[in-house]
Amino acid sequence: MQVQAILYEPALFPDELYQRALLLLDPESSARIKRFYRREDACRTLIGRFLPRMLLHARGVALADMKFAATEAGKPYIASRSSASFTTTGVDPSIAYNVSHDNGLIAIVSSANTHNPPAFTIGVDVMKVRIPGRETFTSFVETVGDQLTTLERRLISSAANEQIGLERFFWMWTAKEAYTKALGLGLGFDFRRVEFDPALDVLRVDGFVPKGWKLSKFKVIHGADVYQGVVAEFVGGDDDAVVISELDPHEWLTVLNATSFIQSAIQQLT
Ligand SMILES: CC(C)(COP(=O)(O)OP(=O)(O)OC[C@H]1O[C@@H](n2cnc3c(N)ncnc32)[C@H](O)[C@@H]1OP(=O)(O)O)[C@@H](O)C(=O)NCCC(=O)NCCS
Repeated sequence: MQVQAILYEPALFPDELYQRALLLLDPESSARIKRFYRREDACRTLIGRFLPRMLLHARGVALADMKFAATEAGKPYIASRSSASFTTTGVDPSIAYNVSHDNGLIAIVSSANTHNPPAFTIGVDVMKVRIPGRETFTSFVETVGDQLTTLERRLISSAANEQIGLERFFWMWTAKEAYTKALGLGLGFDFRRVEFDPALDVLRVDGFVPKGWKLSKFKVIHGADVYQGVVAEFVGGDDDAVVISELDPHEWLTVLNATSFIQSAIQQLT
C-alpha cells in the first residue's frame, strides 16, 4: 500500500500550468473540472485526476491508452480488460486506488488489493484539522453529533482539551469516510454504523470489530496546517481489524508539492 500526498498552495500554482494540465485530460475530467466556480476546487480535482494517471504511467501505459470508469455510486477505477466497454491494457496486476482532497491536500492510496474488482475495497479520506467558519468547537461537534455514536461523542467531550477533542473527531470522521469510500458507497451509508475509537484505535461496524480490515492513520503537517488521513482497506483473512497508528513508521507515505508534481507529470505524460 502506498499513499502519495500532494500539497497544493493556490498562490504558488500558476494559471498557465493549470491550463496546460487541463489539455492533457480526457473530455469528461476536463468538463467536470471546468464546472467548478472556484479555481481552487478545480485545481484539487485536476491534481486528483493526474495522480492515478501517474500510477499508470509508472506501469508503462501511454496517456492515450489510459481508461477510467466509475461504479454506479461514482467510485472511480482503472478500466481493465474485464470490464465491458473500457480497456486499459498493460495493467497486470491491477491497481486499486482511491483519491481524497481537502483544502491544500490531495491524496491517493494505491495497492495491489484484489477484493471486489473493478473498484476494489480500498478508500482514503483526508481532512484539514480545523473548526470551520464561525463555529466554536462545541457548536461544531453539535452540528455533526448525529453522525457520531454515543461512545464517539463521549470520547470527544471527555478529551483533556479542545485540541485533543478536535483531533479525535477528525480521526473518527476520516475513518468513517475512508471505510465507506472503500465500500464505494459514498454518502449512501449511515455514518453511525461505523464507530472509531481513536484513543484505543478500535474500529467497529454495527457494534462489532470487523474481520479482515486494516486502517492506516497518517498525518501531513505543512507549516501551521495539520491534515489527518485514514486509509481503509479490506485485506481479507479472519483476524480482527488492525489499526496502524499515525506514530508508526510510514515508509508508505510520500509528500510532494503540487506545482512540481504537475510540471513533472506534464513532462512525463507528453
Ligand atoms: C465519495 C464521497 C463520500 C466523497 O466525499 P468527500 O469526503 O467530500 O470527498 P473526498 O475528497 O474524500 O473524495 C472525493 C473523491 O472520491 C472519489 N469518489 C467519488 N465517489 C466515490 C465513491 N462512491 N466511493 C469512493 N470514492 C469515490 C473520487 O475520486 C472523488 O474525487 P473527485 O470528486 O475529484 O472526482 C462523495 O463524493 C459521494 O458520496 N459521492 C458519490 C455519491 C454522489 O456523488 N452523490 C451526489 C448526488 S446524490
